[in-house]
Amino acid sequence: NMTEPCTFVIFGATGDLARGKLLPALYHLDAAGRLHPGTRILTTGRRHPDRDAWLSETRADLSGTVRGGLQQEVFTRFADRVDYMQGDLRQADFYKQLQARLADRQGFPADTAFYMALGASDYAGVIENLDRVALLEEQLGWRRVVIEKPFGNDLQSAAILQQKLSNHLREEQIYRIDHYLGKETVRNILVFRFGNVLMEPLWNRDTIDHIQIIHAEPQGIGKRGATYDASGALRDMIQSHLLQLLTFVAMESPVSMAAEALHAEKLKVLKSIRPIPADRIGDYAVRGQYDAGKVGPDDVIAYRDEGRVAADSHTETFAALKLHIDNWRWAGVPFLLRTGKRMTAKQAMVAICFKQPPQQFFRSSHIRCDASNWLLIGIQPNECLRLEMTVKAPGEALATRQTALDAAFRKADETVNDAYEELLLDIVRGDRSLFLSYEEVTQAWQIIDPVLKAWSKPGEDLHLYPAGSWGPRAADRLFDSACQSWRHTLGACGCGME
Ligand code: BG6
Repeated sequence: NMTEPCTFVIFGATGDLARGKLLPALYHLDAAGRLHPGTRILTTGRRHPDRDAWLSETRADLSGTVRGGLQQEVFTRFADRVDYMQGDLRQADFYKQLQARLADRQGFPADTAFYMALGASDYAGVIENLDRVALLEEQLGWRRVVIEKPFGNDLQSAAILQQKLSNHLREEQIYRIDHYLGKETVRNILVFRFGNVLMEPLWNRDTIDHIQIIHAEPQGIGKRGATYDASGALRDMIQSHLLQLLTFVAMESPVSMAAEALHAEKLKVLKSIRPIPADRIGDYAVRGQYDAGKVGPDDVIAYRDEGRVAADSHTETFAALKLHIDNWRWAGVPFLLRTGKRMTAKQAMVAICFKQPPQQFFRSSHIRCDASNWLLIGIQPNECLRLEMTVKAPGEALATRQTALDAAFRKADETVNDAYEELLLDIVRGDRSLFLSYEEVTQAWQIIDPVLKAWSKPGEDLHLYPAGSWGPRAADRLFDSACQSWRHTLGACGCGME
């Protein structure tokens, strides 16, 4: 499954995205023999004077990030594909040099993907300049531009960005990455739903009580203080990753797995989400911010004390949202989305809670809420499926307890590729099915815009939670019944590789 030869141009070669994700992904693809021998990589940055300086730092980085440690033989092959160009993206000269470098065809294939591993505010300027030196013209080969979220900062700015991009690019040339869509388990939701008949009769409002889509991480904001403080959890995680997960869980069967068919079904879900009323935000959304606390054995500081964060910041590091999808399948089934930084543990999952049986034969009178059937789709750190159900406890009485059927998504000796590896190959193949369409992006902004507006002001509705907890208790108010509660982890299951 090797792809055709092409050129990757990576702008921002010394930034976190390139160093932490893109270069390791390209290295892994090379190690697995999935990059064509003719594929070349041109990285650009300001800091390193030349290729040797850049390469020696990259080698050190890769030694710390690649699976199984750096293999000298693979690195030598990888390094042979890579070239580096120092320059300042804000200077027009830079693009002339770039054009000359690529045209010179020092082995650079004409099919080219330009990866914007840059701050979003730089996208439009770089693209305009690429167009000015005719690097986006497709006579000799395809030209694709890859951008990462944030695609704008709200509904209005997303439209402005799109206008600027579409002055220079056809929609088919734009690859909007949401790395969650490259994760094995996320793609597995499609296979699980549409490759089996078992779940489909249950996958609706007749049997499902509510659905939780959850992302928790113990990390704080690291060195991202300035950008994160201007963004917050709702933009950073919910507008993109969690709403995308929701579309995979909720969509109808697409006509095919082709990009247009998938985009159409996902868009229908987003369009069916009931607008959150601006005067009742508190009934649908809860925000929180981490205070000082303990994550594992470590004492950690409050969000407001982090570097480059305003001392009186009201940016949320935790957000929970209740959404309703007004269609025949999901009417009356709440979708609860929750994300937080500095939480107890890493856990990303979809948790589906089924309804109670119509009669309760086995309930003891002192139990207020029955255990429900749950289907848990673990995304991180364990990739697995867990189905929880009620069984009889051993002994004479008809007492019950919960048990679980656990299924791992992979065998012990199989490695899971990083999300970026698959997505990079999709770009080369021209497969846009796991990239976002502009309509999806704008619709997602539409959904969260009323909440963004309400949260743009400080207020008592910002709940502090101790770092290392599962977030503010206030998030419990989003449930309709006292018997519903947040799922935090998959439980001590045999999921994953154990
Ligand atoms: C990124 C967010 O898009 O996703 C980060 O900007 C977040 O704040 C990250 O930590 C989570 O991704 P993952 O793959 O680690 O769950």
